[in-house]
Amino acid sequence: MTTVLEARDLKRYYSVKRGLFAGEATLKALDGASFTLERGKTLAVVGESGCGKSTLARLLTMIEGPTAGSFRIGETEVVGADRGTLKGLRPRVQIVFQNPYGSLNPRQKIGHALEEPLLVNTALPAAERTRKAREMMQLVGLRPEHYDRYPHMFSGGQRQRIAIARALMLEPEILVLDEPVSALDLSIQAQVLNLLAELQERLKLAYVFISHDLSVVRHIADDVMVMYLGRVVEQGPREAVFDGPKHPYTQALLSATPVADPARKRERIVLKGELPSPLSPPSGCAFRNRCPVAREACAAEVPLLRPIGPQMVACHFAS
Ligand SMILES: Nc1ncnc2c1ncn2[C@@H]1O[C@H](COP(=O)(O)OP(=O)(O)OP(=O)(O)O)[C@@H](O)[C@H]1O
Ligand SMILES: [Mg+2]
Repeated sequence: MTTVLEARDLKRYYSVKRGLFAGEATLKALDGASFTLERGKTLAVVGESGCGKSTLARLLTMIEGPTAGSFRIGETEVVGADRGTLKGLRPRVQIVFQNPYGSLNPRQKIGHALEEPLLVNTALPAAERTRKAREMMQLVGLRPEHYDRYPHMFSGGQRQRIAIARALMLEPEILVLDEPVSALDLSIQAQVLNLLAELQERLKLAYVFISHDLSVVRHIADDVMVMYLGRVVEQGPREAVFDGPKHPYTQALLSATPVADPARKRERIVLKGELPSPLSPPSGCAFRNRCPVAREACAAEVPLLRPIGPQMVACHFAS
């Protein structure tokens, strides 16, 4: 196995103003994430809105730097790297967003949108850029005549194919997919997920697949990382997390996803309380105010990730 990405305790804090007259406060958008990603594999990152998923995506794609921690792409350390090194690393990690409409120029033909990364980053002649764009269109299931069309002429699913194609133009090793199918109808979601699986197989791509919905990643994930308010609460191999979730939060998330086999129907766990403000999370375990098994100790001490069976779990009382 080849490790294409290794992250160690990545953190991103933001300084935010509390109000007109109040001082600054620290928002811990991401408070420690460690993982390794192998070539051709998928790490799924799951959690509710605001738990830090897109923040992690921005760090991994080098849009912004971490407050602390480090990560390497292949053999190269990213944090502290000089401009030239970063410039060389950026094409290797590309991102696809939830809403591709926002990232496509409405006045640019699809063919030209695909060629643009080559124009900016390579010295390839025009004819070669066009050839590569057409080849990529075919790979993602677009037709040759789509080359001359504009973004508004496509459906949501097709636009996501275009965004994926564009992200692949520089032949990255890693794709960060930030809620890539969340805006699509269910039937279209399945098509795009199938395309992603095919592309991964064919190009040996590594994916960081972000979703708020565990059921979306059930088939595509090799490893799963569940986040809550900036922290990883459970992480491990897909089977372990889906078949034997250990953290009460993972258990609650899973209980809300549909199951194929009705005989295995789970009791739905409804989380009490509201998601706390990330500016003033509860002391100790940030999940404790919504946790069905929380006890006194949970207020006193932050639970650290520890191995339980094949996965890592951050809960004082998981076993
Ligand atoms: N530039 C910033 N300045 C201040 N706070 C930020 C900034 N970016 C993100 N945050 C905060 O960090 C936390 C994590 O945000 P992030 O966008 O990573 O969450 P997310 O998991 O992607 O959520 P969603 O599912 O809604 O996309 C949120 O509380 C958010 O408000
Ligand atoms: Mg997000």
